[in-house]
Amino acid sequence: VLIKEANCLHGGGCKPGSERAVAVKKSPKAVHPNVTVMKNAGLVNLFTKIRDAHTGAAEFVQYSKRIMRLLVEDTVAVLPSTPRIVNTPTNVRYKGQVSIIDINPEKVCLVSVIRAGDSLLESFREIFPACSVGKMWIQRNESSSAKEAVHSCTKLPPGIEEMEAVVLCDPMLATGGSSLTALNTLVKDYGVKPERIVFSNVISCPEGLDALAKDYPDVRIVTSWVDEGLNEEKFILPGLGDYGDRYFNTI
Ligand code: PRP
Repeated sequence: VLIKEANCLHGGGCKPGSERAVAVKKSPKAVHPNVTVMKNAGLVNLFTKIRDAHTGAAEFVQYSKRIMRLLVEDTVAVLPSTPRIVNTPTNVRYKGQVSIIDINPEKVCLVSVIRAGDSLLESFREIFPACSVGKMWIQRNESSSAKEAVHSCTKLPPGIEEMEAVVLCDPMLATGGSSLTALNTLVKDYGVKPERIVFSNVISCPEGLDALAKDYPDVRIVTSWVDEGLNEEKFILPGLGDYGDRYFNTI
């Protein structure tokens, strides 16, 4: 829906009176049927730090890692699991479950979208070093107005289409161009079933969720935060700037 923005509510990100495409205020689930938005009470403290333009490179990495550690566990929570009953030291039977990534990590492939996705890949590999890994180099063309994704190369493990789950790692979902390019490659070129893919993401927006919902409603998305929307330069607002540049200190 295109609306007239009389006054910018995003701290100066939009020109007063300019027109900006904004998604209708809907719940994230109404935008994408398979999205999970994290609810951890500590996230607001962590996001305040990484959104702050004055946060330096070292602290940005530290606080990002704290968010991504939580995100890894919430992503694992949507992977296939098997019921398991254990006996506790107090002689009580506890009906729980165990995840495929703990039973057979080699049946889960972690795929990062270079470059920022490598930060989230690191967080997964700190806990699950036996998972197989694939990479795709996809960059937004920042000199064009559409900011379309440019795909340079792909390296995925053989047999990825047979894996129990594929976790796509990219901390940012803006227009959806980069993640759609990655999903098209996985599904159309490598035969991975959309329902076996989980997209793990730190910060998203309604426009990106909407773009993914159109082509990939069966791909599950786990995101730490859904922001307001995109500005005219297709940056997420309020956002945190360029995640890759801040994480890898290339501003
Ligand atoms: C960022 C981000 C995503 C993409 C999101 O990467 O990490 O991959 O942009 O934007 P989109 O949804 O509009 O495609 P970028 O291309 O800036 O490269 P980087 O990882 O090197 O920072």
